[in-house]
Amino acid sequence: MAKKSTASRPRIPTHVAIIMDGNGRWALARGLPRLVGHRAGTENLRRIITACVEFGVKYLTIYAFSTENWGRPREEVEGLMNILEDVIDRELAELNKEGVQLRHIGRLERLDPKLQEKVMEAIELTKHNDRLVLSVAFNYGGRDEIVFAIQKMIKDGIKPDEVSSDMVSHYLFTAGVPDPDLIIRTSGELRVSNFLIWQGAYSEWYVTSVYWPDFNKGEFRKALDTYGQRDRRYGGLTEMDGGKDYNAG
Ligand code: IPE
Ligand code: IPE
Ligand code: MG
Repeated sequence: MAKKSTASRPRIPTHVAIIMDGNGRWALARGLPRLVGHRAGTENLRRIITACVEFGVKYLTIYAFSTENWGRPREEVEGLMNILEDVIDRELAELNKEGVQLRHIGRLERLDPKLQEKVMEAIELTKHNDRLVLSVAFNYGGRDEIVFAIQKMIKDGIKPDEVSSDMVSHYLFTAGVPDPDLIIRTSGELRVSNFLIWQGAYSEWYVTSVYWPDFNKGEFRKALDTYGQRDRRYGGLTEMDGGKDYNAG
């Protein structure tokens, strides 16, 4: 059998998106409060950002707080807000030095004005960095994003026959960021939980039972290696065709 050429296959995904799930169960397993799990999850994020820079991943998108997570007990929601604030205070200078560009996807409006300001300042400070684009999905929901995009298109007076797939992408929070090549979900749940439902149309998925605080560089490498073996066909016959359309003139 002919050996598969890997020349056209990107070994490292350009854009990795992660559903950082399992902080609560990680804490529960240790008899600790859930917020301790969220803190441990944040420390792990630092490691994964560094690994992305090292492995050459260009875009990382992380799901930190969903539009549905408001339904959790008040102390947990407040704790998660405080964690975001602390992370910006503690890590921003270092991230900036490493060449990380911070972006936010989701709705800032519902957050405390002081926190909103912090997020905006972090975005402004890092906007010219290009080593890694880190999009933080905070108060993000895929359906909310699409509804918001439709509202903006209508406000802009877009005509029905002007609407295209590219235009919809342009109206999403992720405008300018390529679609994720690989979506990782830690802690084993087999669902999308309202994450990048438009952008993930042809993403490869990797689900592991490892809880997010334990998802270290080695686990991340495993996910990337698995991705490297995938044949992304996009509805065609093989990735090696480079998405060739047999019926195009
Ligand atoms: C993911 O961990 C972080 C957020 C959703 C904010 P969880 O808090 O969902 O942890 P589990 O799923 O309860 O273990
Ligand atoms: C998804 O995890 C959201 C984040 C990781 C921020 P959840 O724990 O909220 O998702 P469900 O409830 O298991 O679907
Ligand atoms: Mg969860």
